[in-house]
Amino acid sequence: MAETERHSYDVVVIGAGGAGLRAAIAAHEAGAKTAVVCKSLLGKAHTVMAEGGIAAAMGNLWPEDNWKVHFRDTMRGGKLLNHWRMAELHAKEAPERVWELEQWGALFDRTPDGLISQRDFGGHRYARLAHVGDRTGLEMIRTLQQRTVSVGIDVFMECTITNLLKDAGRISGAFGYWRESGRFVTFESPTVVLATGGIGKSWKVTSNSWEYTGDGHALAMRAGAGLVNMEFIQFHPTGMVWPPSVRGILVTESVRGDGGVLKNSDGERFMFNYIPEFFKAETADTIEEADRWYEDKKNNRRPPELLPRDEVARAINSEIKAGRGSPHGGVFLDIASRRSAEYIQKRLPSMYHQFKELAGVDITNEPMEIGPTCHYLMGGVEVDPDSASSTVPGLYAAGEVAGGMHGANRLGGNSLGDLLVFGKRAGEYAAQYAAEVKSSRPAVSESDIDTAAAEALEPFNAEGGENPYTLHQDLQNVMQNLVGIIRTEAELSSAVKEIDGLRHRIGNLSVEGHRQYNPGWNLAIDLRNMLVVSEAVAKAALERRESRGGHTRDDYPMTDYEFWGKRNLICELASSGEVTIRQQPLPEPPPELAELLEDH
Ligand code: FUM
Repeated sequence: MAETERHSYDVVVIGAGGAGLRAAIAAHEAGAKTAVVCKSLLGKAHTVMAEGGIAAAMGNLWPEDNWKVHFRDTMRGGKLLNHWRMAELHAKEAPERVWELEQWGALFDRTPDGLISQRDFGGHRYARLAHVGDRTGLEMIRTLQQRTVSVGIDVFMECTITNLLKDAGRISGAFGYWRESGRFVTFESPTVVLATGGIGKSWKVTSNSWEYTGDGHALAMRAGAGLVNMEFIQFHPTGMVWPPSVRGILVTESVRGDGGVLKNSDGERFMFNYIPEFFKAETADTIEEADRWYEDKKNNRRPPELLPRDEVARAINSEIKAGRGSPHGGVFLDIASRRSAEYIQKRLPSMYHQFKELAGVDITNEPMEIGPTCHYLMGGVEVDPDSASSTVPGLYAAGEVAGGMHGANRLGGNSLGDLLVFGKRAGEYAAQYAAEVKSSRPAVSESDIDTAAAEALEPFNAEGGENPYTLHQDLQNVMQNLVGIIRTEAELSSAVKEIDGLRHRIGNLSVEGHRQYNPGWNLAIDLRNMLVVSEAVAKAALERRESRGGHTRDDYPMTDYEFWGKRNLICELASSGEVTIRQQPLPEPPPELAELLEDH
C-alpha cells in the first residue's frame, strides 16, 4: 500500500491565484472546512500578469456605463460565442466584487473626486478598469492572500495534485505529492474546486510561467468532465521580444490604454489598415480622430490600437510577416512620443522598470519592441454558469480553467472580474454541496491511491528512456509552429499527428535521481497534462472550420454565424486516452439580452 499523508476537508481548492483564493474565502465563509493547495508559493500566480485592471461597470468616470454595456462589450469581444449567462453574471456582479476587495484593503488608484480610478482597455466602450498603476493583479493577490491567511484557511504550498479521486461517480478527494520531498499526500474531500489557471507552457513564447501546464483541464477530463471550445487561445498582442531570455513576458495593454501606439519599421501607425467590418462603426479611421478620442471620448471613435486583442495580435503578426517588423522580430510600441516621462512613470511604473532592467530600454525616451505572446485560454472546463459546477458531482471550476465566459476572445481586464465573480460562486456552491452530502460522504479507495502512486512513480522505472526536457521542447515547437495565431488544416492535421507521436513517447520517459526536489520528475508528470490539453486544442482547432476571435483559419477566413456561431465544441477523454470532439448547441440568450446584441 502506498505511503501517503492524509488530510480531510469539506472543500479543497486547487490553485491559489485570484479564483482559487476567492473560492476558498467564500467556502470558508459558508462554514466549510477549506484548504487551498498550490503548486507554487502562495502569491505566485498568473493573476499578477493581469496588470492593467479589473473590468467593472462602476461608472466612476462615465456615468453612462452600466452592466448592460459591459455585457454587450464582453459578448462582442467574444464574437458572440460566450455563454450569455456567464457574461451577464460577470457584468452584474463585478462592481460589487471590486468594492469588496477595497474593503479588504486593496489600494486602488483614485479619480480627482476620490473614487476608484478606471482606465481604458481594448473593446470596452467606456474606461472601466479599476486599477493600481500597472500592478493590479499583484494588489489583488496581495489582498486575497492576506484575507485567506487572516481568516485561518489552511494553505498547502508546493504541492502538485496528480489525480482526482472518485467514489461511485462523485468526487471523493485529490492525490498529489510535495514538490520538495516527493512524498505523497491525499486530501479526502467531497468537493474539489479547480482554479489552476491556463496552459501557456505548451507554447514556446508565452507570458505564463512554469506552473501553467493545464493541470486542472487534464484532471477534469480524466475525472470525466468535458472541456468547451479549447481552440480559442489568446495571443496577447504585446509581449517582450528582446532579449531572448525575456521573450514572451507581458507588456500590459495599459500602455495602449494610456495612449501608446503601434508602429511598423516604416514608422506607420499600421492598425488603421486592419479595422474589421465588425468594429468599423466604432473605430476611428484617421489619426486625427483617433487622437481626438483621448480628449473627447463621447464624440469620437476609439483608436484602432484599442481593438480587441485578437484583432491587434493578427495585425502585428501580418506586419512582421510582411517584412515591416522591428530588428528583433516584433513591431514598435511607442508611448514616449505621446506622454510625458512623469505620466509614464506614474501610470506604468512596472513597465518602466521592466524595460529598463531587462532590456536596457528607457520607455520614456524610446519605443518598445513587442510581439504576440500566448497569454490565455478562453476554453476550459464546461461549467454551470450559476454554480461553477462541472458535470462530475463535487467538481467545480473557476477562473481561466473554466470555459464559456469569454467566448472566442477575452477582453483585457475581464479575467480579474471573472475570477472574483466565479471564484466566489464556486466556493459558495461547493460548500453548499459539501453540507448536503455530509451524512453520505464519498470515500477514498485505497486501491485508487495505489494506482495514483504507481502512475506518479512510473518515470523512475524506465531506464535509458527519453528526457522530459526534450519532449517538452518538441511539444512547444509543435504548438508554436502549427497551432499558433494563423492556422490551416494541413498544419493542424500535422500537429495532431505529432502530438500522437509525443503521446507514445511519453510512456518511455525516464528520470534520474530520487523524489526529493526533482524538477525532471516534476516536469515528466506535468507533461502528461500538457499533452492531453494540447491534443484538445489542436483537434478542436481542426474541427472548427471558420475564423473567430482567437482562432484564425487561413483556409476558412470568414466568421460563420449560421453554423459555427451556434455551436460549442466539447472535448472529452476516451478510454483509449485519446481526446474526442463533439458539437453541442450554444445556449441562446433570452430576448431581453439578445436585444442588447442586435447591432453587432
Ligand atoms: O495587459 C494586461 O494588463 C493584461 C490584462 C489581462 O489579461 O486581463
